[in-house]
Amino acid sequence: MAATASITLDPAFVVGPVRRRTFGSFVEHLGRCVYTGIHDPEHPTADADGFRQDVIDLVKELGVGTVRYPGGNFVSGYRWEDGVGPVEERPRRLDLAWHSTDPNTVGVDEFMRWCEKAGIEPMMAVNLGTRGVQEALDILEYTNVVTGTHFADLRRENGREEPYRIGMWCLGNEMDGPWQIGHKTAEEYARLANETANAMRMVDPDLELVVCGSSNSSMPTFGSWEATVLAETYENVDLISAHAYYQEKDGDLASFLASAVDMDHFISSVAAAADYVRAAGKHSKHINISFDEWNVWYQDRVATDLAKGDEWPVAPRILEDKYNVADAVVVGSLLISLLRHTDRVHSASLAQLVNVIAPIMTEPGGRVWKQTTFHPFSLTAKHAQGEVLQVALDSPTHATAKFGEVTSLDAVATRDPETGAVSVFAVNRSTEGPLELTVSAPALGELGLVEALTYTSDDHTWAATADDDSSVLPVANETAALAEGELTVTLPPISWSVLRLA
Ligand code: AHR
Repeated sequence: MAATASITLDPAFVVGPVRRRTFGSFVEHLGRCVYTGIHDPEHPTADADGFRQDVIDLVKELGVGTVRYPGGNFVSGYRWEDGVGPVEERPRRLDLAWHSTDPNTVGVDEFMRWCEKAGIEPMMAVNLGTRGVQEALDILEYTNVVTGTHFADLRRENGREEPYRIGMWCLGNEMDGPWQIGHKTAEEYARLANETANAMRMVDPDLELVVCGSSNSSMPTFGSWEATVLAETYENVDLISAHAYYQEKDGDLASFLASAVDMDHFISSVAAAADYVRAAGKHSKHINISFDEWNVWYQDRVATDLAKGDEWPVAPRILEDKYNVADAVVVGSLLISLLRHTDRVHSASLAQLVNVIAPIMTEPGGRVWKQTTFHPFSLTAKHAQGEVLQVALDSPTHATAKFGEVTSLDAVATRDPETGAVSVFAVNRSTEGPLELTVSAPALGELGLVEALTYTSDDHTWAATADDDSSVLPVANETAALAEGELTVTLPPISWSVLRLA
């Protein structure tokens, strides 16, 4: 007999709004994310700016809201001025973070034009590695000041009359990491971030500023870094960043599938550190979380990917992970965790968008194709509407080496109060067998089943390629049935599903 699980929904169990910013992503000058990724002037679908229309179409289908740019580790050595003005006069520079060369043919103006075409809200990062307050102010003046000053007028000379009015800014990237160019102690970074935020707010007090939290929860300073940085910057910032990457290690699939347990714990810990500073400093506002790098990433492979010595390639093929079905189930489950914490996670970025640990892949001058991870992301972005509902969940558990006993079922729901549409996002993260799931929602009255889609495969190691990205797709789950106000559905092992009710 298959194991059984149930969830109960109630419109009163509201966690908070579904935020379009939860479905953000990340474009870094790294490998082929920008060059031959979003930008490929030789491509048949390229527009006048050299941007691939076929990629823009998939970005829209993916449902991405916000895009963080230009890094990542790259930003900590970046001179933004190199990327503006006549393209033929722009300098080529060493990108120390990724041992490559940046031709600077894409810079802030091109990126902003791409955002406008793709319907994306930009999230701009400033360099607090090799640079500081002045250069952050300079780029802010270039992008946001109307006219009559050096950098505002330079933007106008470069063809953009109106300011871009970028609202969301990251104060550096992963400054706690020893790998970061210009790496700092918590005290050093806190002071620089606070002074930078202070000065940026003199230009525009309404900016939304993201201060760097820890690079990941296993950093030795995790927790104390957040406390030190926020103690100094609390009143000047709005969000603190969190980054997490997951991978299947040493064949431990069960722990990998339960990665959302770690993400849940990470989010609660960052919120607790922020709330400790709130209490100790007698602040009234809350600092929320920008989970601005998250994904599955097989990081062990990076060292062999990077060029060495005198080789400084342009747009090398690095970090081009190929994702399988289990990876996609994990991506879907991490989105469940992010939605579940919509009260504290106000923004998130799937790292990254194209070619580099990405849901969208391109061939230079050629095809564009979808990785497995594209599907749970696009379906969640599309069907998560209105408010997030906490679900009352009853599930069998199974053992994992990393997290102990975990529930085999994980789920979250959304409900649109305007239309009454309900979406349940559910994963069966057991490798052993199916779950017979019952969904009941007595307080929601008469419900109809709109659609039940499941993403799974008998072979969870199946990965998409340029030649075949569609042998495994989300398909209608024919076991779904409504009877006496309850939905029953079978969730196969290692599967992700969306169940839509109205
Ligand atoms: O997303 C890849 C890299 O991961 C980013 O550049 C860095 O911020 C993180 O360590």
